Amino acid sequence: MGPSDWIFGRFLEWSMSSRTISRQRPPALKDARGKVLEIGFGTGLNLPCYPTAVTQLVVVDPEDLMPKRVAARISAAPFPVTRVTLSAERLPLEDDAFDCVVSTFTLCTIPDASAALHEVRRVLKRDGRFLFLEHGLSEEPSVAKWQRRLNPIQRRIGRGCTLDRRIDSLISDAGLQITRLDRFLIPGMPRTHATMYRGIAAARK
Ligand SMILES: C[S@@+](CC[C@H](N)C(=O)[O-])C[C@H]1O[C@@H](n2cnc3c(N)ncnc32)[C@H](O)[C@@H]1O
Repeated sequence: MGPSDWIFGRFLEWSMSSRTISRQRPPALKDARGKVLEIGFGTGLNLPCYPTAVTQLVVVDPEDLMPKRVAARISAAPFPVTRVTLSAERLPLEDDAFDCVVSTFTLCTIPDASAALHEVRRVLKRDGRFLFLEHGLSEEPSVAKWQRRLNPIQRRIGRGCTLDRRIDSLISDAGLQITRLDRFLIPGMPRTHATMYRGIAAARK
């Protein structure tokens, strides 16, 4: 791990554990159950927010940031956690293997989010559900214009994080059926970064 990974790990942990962002996690994860896959695990900030109905968790992320802190979080989890360092676009996992797949603040960053979402659908059981909490494209044209302007700097600071992805379309285009979608702004953040898509999508195979 180089110095830039060290700095980015701490930056990610600090920014993603703010009170305003932390508050968004439990409502997004409350319906998780059974065997769960989380894509874009980051520093493991979702771990304490999973409900007791979760029995097993597999997590993937191509980066191995803050390994000691992440290992401590994993060993404190009340269910077995398997962490694999890989990208979500090609998952070496069987079809129909998971009751739930979770993604929080990650579809903005995965280079080929569409490929990852096709993988999400493939690994979900027939009645499985995809739980998502993501920031993305604003419906307000003036905000969307700023999102496009800020993208180059955001991608540099956030290692690929893109502000203007249309999250609901990406999910539907991958064959997942959105059964619940909440659109809202995270209070206290600029609208370019605070425009949220939270919901549930069914695999419906
Ligand atoms: C903004 S962080 C969010 C981390 C975590 N999900 C959270 O809610 O705190 C985005 C995460 O996506 C991960 N990521 C980037 N490219 C990815 C890919 N191709 N597949 C899976 N995760 C990826 C990054 O390494 C990073 O951990």
